[in-house]
Amino acid sequence: MKTRYALGIDIGGSGIKGAIVDLKKGEFSTDRLRIDTPQPATPEAVADVVGQIAEHFADELGAGPIGVTIPAIVQHGITRSAANIDKSWIDAPAEKIFEERLGRDITLVNDADAAGIAEVRWGAAAKQPGLVIVTTLGTGIGSALIYNGVLIPNSELGHIEIDGHDAETRASAAVREREGMTHEDWATERLQRYYETIEFLFSPDLLVVGGGVSKKSKKFLPLLKLKTPIVPAKLLNAAGIVGAAWLAADRLKNPDTLIDK
Ligand code: BGC
Repeated sequence: MKTRYALGIDIGGSGIKGAIVDLKKGEFSTDRLRIDTPQPATPEAVADVVGQIAEHFADELGAGPIGVTIPAIVQHGITRSAANIDKSWIDAPAEKIFEERLGRDITLVNDADAAGIAEVRWGAAAKQPGLVIVTTLGTGIGSALIYNGVLIPNSELGHIEIDGHDAETRASAAVREREGMTHEDWATERLQRYYETIEFLFSPDLLVVGGGVSKKSKKFLPLLKLKTPIVPAKLLNAAGIVGAAWLAADRLKNPDTLIDK
């Protein structure tokens, strides 16, 4: 049976957001619920908020799948890194912690992977064959590597080393704000170097730029000199929720592929 609706939950640094997603349309079928991220954002405290969100949507969701995003490497349900989140996530059995709190299965995925798959299915990279690299520019830099529609998870291209620096510490949107750079200077001094390196290493067919800044893409994307087309994301802050919902439903269809336990 094809799943039509799934719950997507996006765990961010300041808010945890959820909505029921219509997987035929790739859009929310309910309002979005947002709850502040608890501080400290330990796995148990965050699981409690995820549980509240799931309870809020219980009637609409029924037995439908639940997908949850997190800004960390997620390997077989274990969170393996914590660049911009509480260090207690490192090596935490995060998927199991959520499942115990919710009393049902969930699918945990990296936040940029979720946003990327949503852009490839319904957004800026819809129907794009070949290699699409979606990057999210926010507190850090997230990435999704998608080849002919298939996600290669946990690419972590925000952490490639460029000129002796971890790339996200030079080129993220938060760094632009912290250093008081204009969008123009950020594009020419930081993003150019970042994206030309990605282009050289991966030869993508399309680059998609997501994260909150994609709304202002006219201020910086036209300044980049690349051979690869580079376009703003379309789903904006819905991408994580929509992608997580889709990945959760997809995992039920293909239990042995994509993101396994
Ligand atoms: C993390 C990634 C995450 C990205 C965006 C990076 O610092 O390492 O896992 O996808 O930030 O949140």
